[in-house]
Amino acid sequence: MKGRIKRCQVKYSFIIEDMLKEGIHCGMMLGDKIVCNLEELIMKYRMLGRTGLRVSLVSLGSGGPSRLGQNTGVPEPEAHRLLHTALDIGINLIDTASGYGQSEEILGRALKTVDRNRYYIATKTRPVKDNRILTASKLTHQVETSLKRLQLETIDIFQFHGVQSNEYDGVRDSLVSTAQKLKSQGKIRFIGITEMYFQDGDHQVLQRAVKDNLFDTVMVGYNLLNQTAEKTVFPLCDAHKVGVLIMIAVRRALSRVEVLEKTIADLKKKDVIPRDELPDKNPLGWLVKDGVESVTAAAYKFAAASKAVSTVITGTSKLSHLRSNVDAILGPPLPSDDMARLNGIFGHISESLGN
Ligand SMILES: NC(=O)c1ccc[n+]([C@@H]2O[C@H](COP(=O)([O-])OP(=O)(O)OC[C@H]3O[C@@H](n4cnc5c(N)ncnc54)[C@H](OP(=O)(O)O)[C@@H]3O)[C@@H](O)[C@H]2O)c1
Repeated sequence: MKGRIKRCQVKYSFIIEDMLKEGIHCGMMLGDKIVCNLEELIMKYRMLGRTGLRVSLVSLGSGGPSRLGQNTGVPEPEAHRLLHTALDIGINLIDTASGYGQSEEILGRALKTVDRNRYYIATKTRPVKDNRILTASKLTHQVETSLKRLQLETIDIFQFHGVQSNEYDGVRDSLVSTAQKLKSQGKIRFIGITEMYFQDGDHQVLQRAVKDNLFDTVMVGYNLLNQTAEKTVFPLCDAHKVGVLIMIAVRRALSRVEVLEKTIADLKKKDVIPRDELPDKNPLGWLVKDGVESVTAAAYKFAAASKAVSTVITGTSKLSHLRSNVDAILGPPLPSDDMARLNGIFGHISESLGN
């Protein structure tokens, strides 16, 4: 009896090792076969381009208007709870930056006790300070500082943060080689780039970056008000096997009705959309029906709809919002006639809308 249990324990420990290698933390077994990854029942996963990382379709952002609650009065223990709940529902990608106040430090403290195989960290640094491209040693120092704050040995995705058109050549020519060196030293695993969406609504920088083929991931501003990435960024990323992280899926315009009303009023005033196209009050209220609980839910569904999208970042600081955003993204897509109507109204707009 003792011997049989021992054999059994050895067999199961092999299976658990295999599961962890596959990124499975919670599986159901039949005999000695994993028949179902229980995480798949509550989360969807997609390949992050050529990185080979299998990332959750919903990821958690620690910047934007909320910064993990630093800007919304959420105490740090609540932010830890938000993070742990996110991991429990299968979110395995967390985005941060050295410029998001204390976000890296908060993440470091919250993730200290969490198995490192359960999550990927994407962080970033602005490559320009006082109008000058960082030196190689300054960039190295920044990455080492992020590692210290996050209390980690390696950053899964290191991104050049908010790169503008006039900065791109300098980043490509002076800093990518430094990032590659950091990669060879094991301090980072993959190299990404994020755009300054509010100055680059048609994604000039990301189009150049993907064509240069030096970056494993891009983070792009994409929402139902500005759909240009579908034409200008997604096909390029697909061709070059570059992972696509979506930011600004709801931001303020699609999470606060008064901001949306003002945005739509401005578009009407500038004749960007016809005056009778949408009501002045609650202009996208018609999306809320048949299980679509709010305009915010509709906007998250919209952001996750394209197969080109690896992950949609939600920058929430509230547990209730996290749960409804996950439900929206994992639930049924928007009806095709609503998608077509959104495309008809906003499809031609390349203005950086959403704030
Ligand atoms: N250039 C860049 O690299 C760059 C720029 C911007 C963002 N990012 C990254 O992308 C992430 C996401 O972008 P984002 O934060 O700008 O935009 P977002 O995630 O689209 O929007 C976040 C805002 O929406 C609110 N919200 C979220 N869910 C809600 C819900 N169900 N109901 C009502 N309000 C809701 C949040 O407030 P609550 O906290 O109250 O939920 C917050 O104000 C950031 O956290 C950051 O990691 C990167």
